[in-house]
Amino acid sequence: MRQIAGVLAANVLYVLGVATTLGAVSDRAAPTTTDAEYASARTCQSCHRTIHLYWSESEHGRSAVKPSYLAALRSAVEAAADPNRVRRDCVSCHAPTTLVTGDFELKQALAREGVNCDFCHTVADVDLDRAGHPFDVRPGRVKRGPLEYAKSPFHETAYSPLHKSSSLLCAACHEYTNDLGVRVLSTYTEWKEGPYAARGMNCQECHMPLVPGDSVREGLTSTRRVINLHRMTGGSAPSQVDKGLALRIESLTVGARTADVQVVVTNAAAGHAVPGGLSTKTLLLVVGVETASGELLHRQERAYRRELKDAEGRTMVSVPDLFLKAASVGEDSRLKPKESRTERFTIPVPEDAKAIVARLEYRDASDPSAPHSTVITELRRAPRL
Ligand code: HEC
Ligand code: HEC
Ligand code: HEC
Ligand code: HEC
Ligand code: HEC
Repeated sequence: MRQIAGVLAANVLYVLGVATTLGAVSDRAAPTTTDAEYASARTCQSCHRTIHLYWSESEHGRSAVKPSYLAALRSAVEAAADPNRVRRDCVSCHAPTTLVTGDFELKQALAREGVNCDFCHTVADVDLDRAGHPFDVRPGRVKRGPLEYAKSPFHETAYSPLHKSSSLLCAACHEYTNDLGVRVLSTYTEWKEGPYAARGMNCQECHMPLVPGDSVREGLTSTRRVINLHRMTGGSAPSQVDKGLALRIESLTVGARTADVQVVVTNAAAGHAVPGGLSTKTLLLVVGVETASGELLHRQERAYRRELKDAEGRTMVSVPDLFLKAASVGEDSRLKPKESRTERFTIPVPEDAKAIVARLEYRDASDPSAPHSTVITELRRAPRL
């Protein structure tokens, strides 16, 4: 009984939302772009509990409210010649329901949900040639997804190849060219020009793998016992970065006072360059000697990153600058999909050396108050034979 009451409550909530909208546009028969409103993720949560839980742990669920994002938004808007346009631009990806609601100041709770369920699941098509608004948005009763025979008593469903197997859905936000013609975000292009697109392996296959779980809660009929993981991790999760990379000590030659070390680092399983996304990220290959006291001495590094430069040729680091002022692409030393790099180091080996260490560190400067730097993986070898 409790369950049925819950379902009914959710149903009423949902119908109320739709009814308000239909009331406003009663002169139109078929749903179009403007005759419906987005529902809150909380409405979806009442039935799609597990998926909601994963989404709420995702960066998509936080994209409109993270303090680092809000700080970047503020300084971008302050620095802009046309502040309203810049705000609209930033918010259109970080809180995309505003494309329809116009709530660019994020006054309503809905906008603060960021990239939410109903936004993604009512996108009907994507056209990347329409810069600024590549989405064909159809908020309303029809929820589009990967299931061919799904039936929900509470909303209509439509099978959508865009959701099931097209990287375009993601590309609409993960690819961005600024006013100066520079690709600030190029994840989609990197994927498209790489080996995974050729094999038909899209963003979803890696970022939304099938995991055990119920698509809807007990009491409702579901078509299968697995769900697509909605956590969609990237650089914020060291385990995901580790998944993409392979590190190997190819050779180690220890002499009287020095050691020659050859290390191979490979982008083994990321569908785009690593580090991916915004050019705030650096992957560091570090080689050094660990002493008896546990210190890492004689540290040497190779850095892999993509540099964006302003009109004067200066490399930029702050997020607002990257979006607004990037005028050219500088050095891009990142690892392309499947690419291996062999790096050679000669390091001094002191008497009390305990181990030769090779490791990968990942840094993200997008949050200046807490630059996150993480050891992704570490290898150790005895310094003497
Ligand atoms: C009262 C219950 C209920 C609510 C509320 C609800 N759904 Fe569903 N939904 C279902 C059921 C049942 C299915 C069928 C699941 C299956 O077959 O595995 C479904 C299926 C779906 C599908 C799959 C469609 C397809 O063809 O692949 C999507 C997408 C979806 N819902 C999105 C949403 C979104 C977004 C919301 C919130 C705006 C929402 N749902 C709210 C019950 C609900
Ligand atoms: C960034 C876009 C995006 C967001 C946000 C999102 N989804 Fe999905 N969802 C997808 C895609 C893409 C698939 C299909 C993946 C595939 O088939 O590989 C999917 C699949 C589904 C399905 C079908 C069952 C399954 O797991 O495959 C349901 C139901 C669903 N999502 C509900 C939700 C709900 C509820 C939320 C919010 C709590 C949500 N989605 C948030 C993109 C999104
Ligand atoms: C409406 C815009 C939008 C769409 C559509 C979208 N994303 Fe995102 N995505 C974002 C934003 C904004 C962020 C950054 C959020 C933040 O860190 O504050 C992000 C972050 C991510 C991250 C990084 C997470 C981390 O741990 O660093 C991954 C991975 C990701 N998205 C994958 C996808 C995939 C896969 C799809 C398609 C199924 C997709 N996104 C669709 C806007 C979008
Ligand atoms: C073959 C698997 C694979 C495919 C295909 C793939 N990714 Fe990734 N992605 C990864 C791995 C592994 C990482 C972690 C390594 C990293 O951070 O670069 C990652 C990281 C990311 C990040 C975070 C970058 C960072 O360093 O913070 C984003 C954003 C992202 N992917 C989006 C996408 C989008 C959008 C697509 C489709 C155009 C896509 N990915 C296709 C495996 C994949
Ligand atoms: C085309 C869509 C798009 C636009 C426009 C956009 N962003 Fe983003 N933003 C993203 C995506 C996708 C990511 C995640 C990329 C990654 O993982 O590196 C991101 C990441 C970020 C981050 C780092 C993650 C975090 O939350 O700390 C900040 C800060 C940020 N954006 C601020 C802005 C500001 C400010 C603007 C406007 C000047 C803007 N963005 C415009 C899509 C967009």
